[in-house]
Amino acid sequence: MNKILPTLLTALLVLASNQVSAFDVAEGESLVNGNCTSCHGSELYTRKNRLVSSRPGLSKQVKRCELALGLTWFDEDVENAAEYLNQRFYRFAK
Ligand code: HEC
Repeated sequence: MNKILPTLLTALLVLASNQVSAFDVAEGESLVNGNCTSCHGSELYTRKNRLVSSRPGLSKQVKRCELALGLTWFDEDVENAAEYLNQRFYRFAK
């Protein structure tokens, strides 16, 4: 117990500070690379006639694909993935 409590508190603090920062882009990157490359690669995100034309639209499309894939991501995961795609490829203003 003496050892578990500080560990638990540290874990809670880490969780809490993650909540404060808006996005975890590194997490988004590993989500995308780990789950999203079976149908299309990143060429879709930079093609001329790409579907997505706004930052909110990007979140919606990520959600659509995530559901089509049968994953059960939290909203936070969707947002992290969308923010990663935005910073790396789409570059919409907020
Ligand atoms: C089951 C196959 C499939 C998987 C897996 C998949 N997608 Fe898609 N994705 C599509 C299709 C189909 C389109 C639309 C292509 C079209 O209409 O030209 C698309 C389009 C997109 C677009 C829009 C590209 C544009 O034109 O701007 C984004 C962003 C995207 N997917 C993200 C993701 C993410 C993130 C994941 C992982 C959660 C993912 N996709 C996994 C099938 C998939």
